[in-house]
Amino acid sequence: MRTVKFGIIGLGLMGREFGSAAARWCHLLEMNVGPEIVAICDTNDALFSWFRDHFPTIRLVTKNYQELLADGEVEAVYCAVPHNLHRQLYTDIISAGKHLLGEKPFGIDKPANDAIMEAIRRHARVFVRCTSHFPFFPAMQRLCRMIDEQAFGRIIEVNSGFLHSSDLNATKPINWKRIVEINGEYGCMGDLGMHPCHVPFKAGWYPRTVRAILSNLVRERPDKQGNMVPCDTWDNATLLCDAVDPGSGEPFPLTIKTQRIAPGETDTWYLEVKGMKACARWSSANARRLEVLEYTGGEQTWRRIDTGWEAAYQGITGGIFEFGFTDAVQQLWAAFLYEFHEGKPKSRFAACVTPEEVAYSHRLFTAALASHARGTVETV
Ligand SMILES: NC(=O)c1ccc[n+]([C@@H]2O[C@H](COP(=O)([O-])OP(=O)(O)OC[C@H]3O[C@@H](n4cnc5c(N)ncnc54)[C@H](O)[C@@H]3O)[C@@H](O)[C@H]2O)c1
Repeated sequence: MRTVKFGIIGLGLMGREFGSAAARWCHLLEMNVGPEIVAICDTNDALFSWFRDHFPTIRLVTKNYQELLADGEVEAVYCAVPHNLHRQLYTDIISAGKHLLGEKPFGIDKPANDAIMEAIRRHARVFVRCTSHFPFFPAMQRLCRMIDEQAFGRIIEVNSGFLHSSDLNATKPINWKRIVEINGEYGCMGDLGMHPCHVPFKAGWYPRTVRAILSNLVRERPDKQGNMVPCDTWDNATLLCDAVDPGSGEPFPLTIKTQRIAPGETDTWYLEVKGMKACARWSSANARRLEVLEYTGGEQTWRRIDTGWEAAYQGITGGIFEFGFTDAVQQLWAAFLYEFHEGKPKSRFAACVTPEEVAYSHRLFTAALASHARGTVETV
């Protein structure tokens, strides 16, 4: 098996998820390539010990990411830092010739994303992909196969979203994801938006226009000392888009919702595709279940398929068992390494988000900001 030596920059919530996914790489079967974490970086040195304790392969521990980039052994970087740092760090990583699996949104705003895209153009040898593990749930992979097989017929409408609810608690302390200077003007769209765009964009369902309604429902939150401070990010975004199905060339409505205040929704991703021949819907609220309606002229009946552990990248787990968030994160990393190693993705929907796809999400979110501000339908 080929080993790719990784450095991780940003050891917070997602940095640790990726560490854990690498630590149990033996879970996957038939992978000809795997990661080895050799270097870690975070400005908060309290986060070093967990990695040190669990990864004997780590040689370099630093608070300065430039030191990690200067290390000749580091071939690839997983970077999970706040959005205001994406432009500088991602362009430096790419310019240092390191392959990059970067967290969304790949820049705090469109100018930052443009700069990252320019760095990618200047370093064509460097392999760059963006995260989003939503499609790797087995039921979603099945839904995606229906897209590949053009099973839906003419598309009637598509609804995609990512919903959280913990911000309904107005006393929840503020963090960087609720501060415009660090999270960005996009608010919830920057933080959550790439996930519901992932499958529609891979399907070729790119929005041409957007009408957006954005809401800032909680305008102040307590800081760590309990003082109330401004909370100026958009909590919820509802985007009504006009997309075109490449299969039929016909337009259809595509809704993309990203909400931090969706009561009762702990961490719900959903996708619903309605077509003239078939419909399908999936939600992470009942992650193993795919609902399908196939129409052949008779009765219109939804059937339920409870999927097991039938992942795109095969693993040791028995076929009847449940698949979860940590599995999806590992599948995402498998998709990155598979495409890096083989030169092409295993399949259209078992692949990471490409830089071009993430750049299109910036066009969409920038148009959505303008749409809300002006009350207009904007061209994406
Ligand atoms: N794919 C997903 O499901 C998912 C989920 C949550 C967050 N994210 C994304 O991951 C990224 C990080 O989010 P998080 O939730 O892990 O945040 P986090 O705050 O838990 O972690 C970020 C880490 O970056 C570190 N950091 C800050 N400045 C640094 C610097 N100059 N050099 C090195 N490290 C530095 C912080 O100390 C912190 O430990 C964001 O882009 C976010 O959008 C993705």
